[in-house]
Amino acid sequence: MNVGILTGGGDCPGLNAVIRAVVRKAEKHYEDTVVGFFDGWKGILEENYEELTIEKMRGTLPRGGTVLGTTRDHPYMFEDGPQRIKDVCEKMGIDAVIVIGGEGTLSCALELHNDQITNIIGVPKTIDNDIEATEMTFGFSTAVEIATEAIDRLHTTAESHDRVMVVEVMGRHVGHIATWSGIAGGATIVLIPEEKFNIDNVAESLKRRHDAGRYASIVVVAEGAVPEEGTLNLPKPEVDRYGHQRLGGISQIIASEIEKRTGFETRVTVLGHVQRGGTPNPYDRVLGTRFGIAAIDAVHNKQFGNMVALQNGSIETVPLQEAVGSLKTVSPKLWGTAKNFFA
Ligand code: F6P
Repeated sequence: MNVGILTGGGDCPGLNAVIRAVVRKAEKHYEDTVVGFFDGWKGILEENYEELTIEKMRGTLPRGGTVLGTTRDHPYMFEDGPQRIKDVCEKMGIDAVIVIGGEGTLSCALELHNDQITNIIGVPKTIDNDIEATEMTFGFSTAVEIATEAIDRLHTTAESHDRVMVVEVMGRHVGHIATWSGIAGGATIVLIPEEKFNIDNVAESLKRRHDAGRYASIVVVAEGAVPEEGTLNLPKPEVDRYGHQRLGGISQIIASEIEKRTGFETRVTVLGHVQRGGTPNPYDRVLGTRFGIAAIDAVHNKQFGNMVALQNGSIETVPLQEAVGSLKTVSPKLWGTAKNFFA
């Protein structure tokens, strides 16, 4: 078979592990040809591609980012986009495309599948871990590790100076990274988009804690945390050309409000893209590898319109329909566990 592969949306650690695994099994076991399209859907639209081989993929397993490059461009942005995808795939004799992406990229993959443009198998990726129908996306574990290490480091400097440290992590609509790193790092307070916060209550909690003689507090804030209505004004975020809100900076506002209300010296750390860059940890390398092998198997089983997913610890295929449309939020049970440790 002739199999295409692309990575779309924001990058994340473990993408190369997926590509490498697809190429390995495709070449060795199925004797397929794998074509890597560059920069997401753009690679098909602009016929920008390269044949991938086991030899070419050597050394890529520990590398962060994606050797194929990525963009948020998608065919439905252009009038003739879907037709162009169909024409190019037909011209190149592509039998199926393995699409590695987050909610946006996978929604587009489903639309192309429904419009019978080409045969598609999805692979879920994002450090945010917000894709439905899979227990975990690769990249998340590495991001949590990076955020936890940062929190560990901030504890000692916070204690030395008796300060409040506000740490901003990624998570535009969901607070998985904030919740996991907050639990793992022993945060005092965690603010996530799923649970609106009241800045007065945050300040009061910090004061109570300090009154009890425990100084130095860590407040973990997901970039998309939402204040209760009428409690705190946040500036409207900029929107990029894909309609994607550019978040980042909420921690500055929260820190200054904490300082105003408590008088405690407060500092801010925004982790930003550090969470997305660099080498994937072993868990993400293994999950990416398992997804890659399952994806090429799904191509040969003709399970088009499906996505590979982690369910009850094993890799399954699920309809893309089940994965898109809504986001996987932090479970009330996990949040309940986290809350036991809040001030
Ligand atoms: O990968 C998802 C994500 O990490 C979001 O949490 C974050 O808001 C976004 O990417 C930022 O992406 P970019 O800077 O590439 O637009």
